[in-house]
Amino acid sequence: MVLMDLLQVSTKCGHGVSCILTKMIESLIQSEIIKQSPYTEADVPTPALVIDAAVVSRNVSRMADYVKKHGIGLRPHSKTHKSRVFGKMQMLAGAIGLTVAKAGEAEGLASVGQDILMAYPAVDPARCQKLAELARQYTIRVAVDSVNAVEALAAAAVTKQSTIGLLVDVEVGMGRTGVGSASAALALAQKITSTKGVRLDGIMCYPGHIWLPVDQQVQALLAVSEKLQEVIDLWAANGLQAKIVSGGSTPTAYNSHLVKPYTEIRAGTYIFNDLNTLRGGYCAMEDCAARIVCTVVSNAIKDQVVVDGGTKTFTSDLCIPARESGHGYLLEYPQAKLSRLSEEHGQVEMVLSERRPKIGERVTIIPNHICPCVNLQNAVWLKASGALYQINVDTRGMLS
Ligand SMILES: Cc1ncc(COP(=O)(O)O)c(C=O)c1O
Repeated sequence: MVLMDLLQVSTKCGHGVSCILTKMIESLIQSEIIKQSPYTEADVPTPALVIDAAVVSRNVSRMADYVKKHGIGLRPHSKTHKSRVFGKMQMLAGAIGLTVAKAGEAEGLASVGQDILMAYPAVDPARCQKLAELARQYTIRVAVDSVNAVEALAAAAVTKQSTIGLLVDVEVGMGRTGVGSASAALALAQKITSTKGVRLDGIMCYPGHIWLPVDQQVQALLAVSEKLQEVIDLWAANGLQAKIVSGGSTPTAYNSHLVKPYTEIRAGTYIFNDLNTLRGGYCAMEDCAARIVCTVVSNAIKDQVVVDGGTKTFTSDLCIPARESGHGYLLEYPQAKLSRLSEEHGQVEMVLSERRPKIGERVTIIPNHICPCVNLQNAVWLKASGALYQINVDTRGMLS
């Protein structure tokens, strides 16, 4: 039996989403799709990215419950886990499809998500052709903010005899991509409706500039809402409809109902969480599912120990809400600071810590930004009932 058939084994059992996910993990284990490794957390080769299955189940269930309560669709961004197994968990919990950033990710996850949104511009022939080929079999949508992207995707779709759904990317404050005005969004929408091979599906935005505490986000989200509504109204006045209005992020996820035009959100980080979401107040410590287990390899320098993870494990990303806090949080040594990284060395300042780890001791670290850390691993370790199971990071390194 192929992987997807076996994943179907876990169907709804009437005891809620958490139970569905637990059953899915059990079925994967029983079917030997994910095999118990001979390692435990105490002897797994380090640095190891260990994911707690119970915490993932809870995080996925909580978000699924929230969107259900507010009648919003959830299209989780797969950039966080890059894995078919975690994508399937999100689909089983009610997700309407998956989000990707890259055409290679779309290829790796299309059979899991079926309805894929690439929330990233595609303007080059290689990306466009890959997406157009996938669109023959799956629902493929892409966010665009230029005529170039519309024409490149349309040309590929016509060649492959498929149709690609397009969302007009509208800038709502982050200043990264997206057209800046309602009139520009209308012009692009009209271009799409008059172009063969593409279909106007709606609007996309990404409120990635909002890192305010949850209870102080109202104004910023209402501004997003107004901007989207302006586009929707102008489209309607010109006979165009935005069937999909896709937005959302993990920091704003549980306030998404304040943005009335949203039909779906694309939170991604929520599945694992990290120091960004913890220190920003968007989750609690017990919601952090991912930890990097490291070994202390040196204590030769005074007031410092060195762990076996550097930028090739943690990346150089700082913590957005606490930029001076170092590169990760050591659970066993809360006063320690992972202050400097080179490729394979993590220098931990121990000045403020009364206790010091010994050489060979393992420490458990929550990274600043989990998504690029996952992309640096071939596989992560899922911890379920005390045992470790290896889960492939299927779309790691798929950067085009
Ligand atoms: C376009 C887009 N959508 C959705 C997300 C998911 O946001 P978060 O990481 O806050 O869950 C991201 C994150 O980078 C993004 O770039």
